[in-house]
Amino acid sequence: MISIIVAIAENGAIGKNNDLLWHISGDLRMFKRITRGHTVIMGKKTYESLPRRPLRERRNIVITDLPGETIEGCEMAYSIQDAVNLCDPAEENFIIGGASVYRQFLPLADRLYITRVHKSFEADVFFPPIDPGIWELTAQEPGEVDPKLAFHYTYEVYDRRK
Ligand SMILES: NC(=O)c1ccc[n+]([C@@H]2O[C@H](COP(=O)([O-])OP(=O)(O)OC[C@H]3O[C@@H](n4cnc5c(N)ncnc54)[C@H](OP(=O)(O)O)[C@@H]3O)[C@@H](O)[C@H]2O)c1
Repeated sequence: MISIIVAIAENGAIGKNNDLLWHISGDLRMFKRITRGHTVIMGKKTYESLPRRPLRERRNIVITDLPGETIEGCEMAYSIQDAVNLCDPAEENFIIGGASVYRQFLPLADRLYITRVHKSFEADVFFPPIDPGIWELTAQEPGEVDPKLAFHYTYEVYDRRK
């Protein structure tokens, strides 16, 4: 099973200057809770943007075009197919970004964990629109109230329609 996990602003924005657009502690805790113990798959730029890397307590797979590139503590994939082949078929495998990797995996994914950030942001990378004909909203829950944030957010789960 392949799942995408991503936080998306109202205008589809997900990042700028190879960084996130917000710091949402509740969402980071939720990300950890959902992905802990599982395989996480990411593009090289997202890997480089992580403050602490590789992500602990998870199997890290990094996708790169550079042949022979290796990163300590990570498995490398040199194409999307390579990454798919490394997925554990008996497990949930998480695509954790960034924009280019989300775009390539969206047609292959079974489930989406979306954190909807109820605000628009200036950005240089975006998530594609989620087609309700393909994706069914199966769970929804408000994010934790955080007085440090100038916006609210909502956790959503979508499953691919049969
Ligand atoms: N809001 C969120 O939830 C969220 C989550 C994660 C990331 N982000 C944001 O997304 C942005 C990064 O996204 P991005 O699109 O610029 O970069 P990215 O997808 O993280 O990484 C792109 C890199 O991955 C490798 N790659 C991608 N597709 C490949 C393929 N088919 N075959 C081989 N290698 C492949 C290439 O690495 P090489 O250059 O090494 O060849 C490419 O340069 C950042 O702003 C980050 O903060 C947001």
